[in-house]
Amino acid sequence: MIRWEMSKIWRALNFIGGLTLVSILYTSCGERGTDSVEPTFSSLYANYFSSACVQCHSPGTDAYDDGVLFDFTTQESAYDSLLSRTVTSPSNPGLCLGVKIVDAGNAKNSYLTGVLLGSYNTNNFAGVSGCRPDQGHINRNDFPSSAQSALLNWINEGAQNN
Ligand code: HEC
Repeated sequence: MIRWEMSKIWRALNFIGGLTLVSILYTSCGERGTDSVEPTFSSLYANYFSSACVQCHSPGTDAYDDGVLFDFTTQESAYDSLLSRTVTSPSNPGLCLGVKIVDAGNAKNSYLTGVLLGSYNTNNFAGVSGCRPDQGHINRNDFPSSAQSALLNWINEGAQNN
């Protein structure tokens, strides 16, 4: 009887140990995935823009129909969208007129950083009086802070299509 109880406890402990091991392995793999994001457009596109943005930023989506003409369907169209456009935000029309979505070499003045990163979402953005980027993306956590430095370095190093 006691032997039987002991083996039951032993099996339970083994099971818990196994679960812990699986969750440790799972977590560390997840972290390694984040560390591997490089400050290049191809890495940012593969890890984030292709999965976290395309459902709202491609032809036929609400944001597109509202006048934010981004197309994140392919790496090329995403790059063109980010580098060739200035702000058309439907939530503050006119207030950020002329501010570039990506200002190559200057992350602080790139509307993209103001929209995605809480610490870059400031009043009078890019020196334009009254301009404050929309905060919907930050509230939804569309872009993880762990990838922040990759994004900032990519822009500050010239926002190449690399
Ligand atoms: C749930 C839908 C949704 C997701 C996901 C989303 N966006 Fe947006 N995005 C919007 C909407 C809606 C607007 C317009 C906001 C406004 O009213 O200013 C917008 C605006 C923007 C703007 C400003 C454009 C302008 O001209 O004002 C940028 C830059 C942007 N998004 C980038 C991204 C990136 C990069 C991602 C992925 C990390 C992303 N968005 C994910 C819905 C989304």
